[in-house]
Formats: sequence, structure tokens, C-alpha cells
Amino acid sequence: MKKHIVLVGFMGTGKSAVSAALAERLRRSAIDTDAEIVRTAGMTIPDIFAQHGEPYFRQIESEVIRRVLAFPTPHIIATGGGAVLAAENRAEMLEKGHVVALFADPEVIIERVSMDTNRPLLSGNVRENVYRMLERRKHSYDFAPIRIDTSNLSVDEVVEAILAETSIN
Ligand code: S3P
Repeated sequence: MKKHIVLVGFMGTGKSAVSAALAERLRRSAIDTDAEIVRTAGMTIPDIFAQHGEPYFRQIESEVIRRVLAFPTPHIIATGGGAVLAAENRAEMLEKGHVVALFADPEVIIERVSMDTNRPLLSGNVRENVYRMLERRKHSYDFAPIRIDTSNLSVDEVVEAILAETSIN
């Protein structure tokens, strides 16, 4: 059975943009776990965090990850930056997909996320929060067999790199 391609990485590393381009290139459907969480919970991500807290968000996130990884046709799956924190999520991703971790320099991440108000973990001092969380998560994406630094690459270049690394075409 063909495997999914699962994109993991810190916020602002390009998962959503790359997922859309990769899906088009491979004529596969793309699915975004954050969007599925919003659909499942019936509220926005900031509202889930504000009203129910992060543990509840993580619980839905793990359920969504299990559900989308079980899709029988191979998808391009873009995950939220914290989806890798639970060991069972990591194990399931590795079992069902080619796991690709995207990285970017902190300043590039800050530039990419600074206009966005949809990320509760960064709200307030974005720069400080990005540096603090990057430090805390510095090894969180190491489990991915494929790793790509997107700082100086176009979306299409990242897509080509992923195709080369996964030997998919
Ligand atoms: C989070 C990343 C977000 C979203 C939520 C929590 C995180 O997804 O899931 O705000 O813990 O890193 P993106 O990586 O798509 O921004």
C-alpha cells in the first residue's frame, strides 16, 4: 500500500504551502490536521485553547491524526507544529507515512508567523515565544527520517526535494 506523506515541523516552516503544492504535483488530496481539529471541535483554534485548554486541543489532535492516517488512499497530511509531541502520534506517523520534517531559521519563522493571530501559543511577544518554543522543541522533529530546511527554498524547490528524498513521482 502506498504511504501518506506526513509533513511535520515548527509553526511557520511552510507545511501548509508545501502540502498544497505537493498534493497538486502528485494529484493526491491534501489534508490539514488543524483544519480537521477546527471542524471536529466546531470552533477556532484560539477558542479551543481559551475555552478548553491545551490538553483538550492535544487530545482532539491525536484523535484526528489517528483518523487521517487511517485513510486508505495516500494523502498529503500537514500537521500542526505540536502534533509530534505525543509519542503515539510519532509512532503512528512513522508507520503509516513518509514523515518529512520542515525547518526554517528563527527569523524566517518570525517573519512568516508575525501577521497571524490564529496561533495562541505565540500570542503576545511573538519573537520571544518563537525563540522559547524553538529551544523547548529543538529535538522534537528529529524522529523524521527526511528533513528539509525551507529557509532559502521556494515552495516548488521544497516539493522537488521531498519527491527526491521519498523516491515518489
Ligand atoms: C501548534 C501549531 C499550530 C496549531 C496550534 C498549536 C503548536 O499549527 O496546531 O496553534 O503547538 O506548535 P501550525 O504549525 O500549522 O501553525
